[in-house]
Amino acid sequence: MIKFEDVSYNHPDGTNALNDINLEIPENSITAIVGNNGAGKTTLVKHINGLLKPTTGTVSIKNNNTKESSVAELSRDVGMVFQNANHQLFADTVENEILFGLNNFGFSEEFIKERYEFVIELFNLRKYENISPLKLSGGEKKRVCLASVLAWNPGILILDEPTVGQDELQKTVLLEFIDQLNKNNKTVIVISHDIEFLWRLQPNIVTMSEGRIIQIGSPEKIFRNKELMEKVGIVPPQIIKIFEGIGIKDKTPLSLEDSCKVIRELRNH
Ligand SMILES: Nc1ncnc2c1ncn2[C@@H]1O[C@H](COP(=O)(O)OP(=O)(O)OP(=O)(O)O)[C@@H](O)[C@H]1O
Ligand SMILES: [Mg+2]
Repeated sequence: MIKFEDVSYNHPDGTNALNDINLEIPENSITAIVGNNGAGKTTLVKHINGLLKPTTGTVSIKNNNTKESSVAELSRDVGMVFQNANHQLFADTVENEILFGLNNFGFSEEFIKERYEFVIELFNLRKYENISPLKLSGGEKKRVCLASVLAWNPGILILDEPTVGQDELQKTVLLEFIDQLNKNNKTVIVISHDIEFLWRLQPNIVTMSEGRIIQIGSPEKIFRNKELMEKVGIVPPQIIKIFEGIGIKDKTPLSLEDSCKVIRELRNH
């Protein structure tokens, strides 16, 4: 369990970025954090891997106060893929980028080889193994970041805007992978403005605005609340708009295939 208790955070220049945050993220859950630019999403998740420590209040991971653990200790359990890939990448080749974390945590040679092979295939990076990650396209860079963190298999995975620059195929790979992680008892936290992706993922949604949590709930509940969405600067997924438009306001189908089925049935009546 990740627990924020009465957390506020001021940046060193005095900017207040988090205000009175109380939040519990259960183990083995998928949570999305949404909200407008500058709402405090990135600042919030940086408290989970200890990169930032609260100005007031407490953040604890499995009952351990992050103020009492180093970033190095926390990062074994909390993997974070940064919003900006250029802030994460540093190695001379894609291979070394992925191997860095694995070597750093002192895993066995066998485990390292197995995990390396797994992520290089999963994220379709084989042909870039010996190339500098900085020479790749934006979407490819993001995939290298994902691969290097997922390689060491952390219990908690934080993805800050993972779909930015990804094509539909890669988004589907990511979606299936998050689902798989969750089935393997991992906790996944995603920050995203990609509402269509979140609708497919169906996470628990935490909405933020101006450093505060506004509301927490299911996608159905959050994306139907027009006032809330306006406040946190998001628009509902297309599927909700369509079904509201044809007068179905209670249960929206999750996939396009299911939507077609419902519409076909309506037409036959
Ligand atoms: N290093 C910093 N120093 C001072 N203020 C900062 C710093 N980083 C962020 N801020 C401020 O803190 C607030 C929250 O920023 P944060 O990056 O957490 O927002 P965000 O919700 O992740 O936004 P986005 O959707 O644009 O990524 C903003 O007002 C921002 O200007
Ligand atoms: Mg951010």
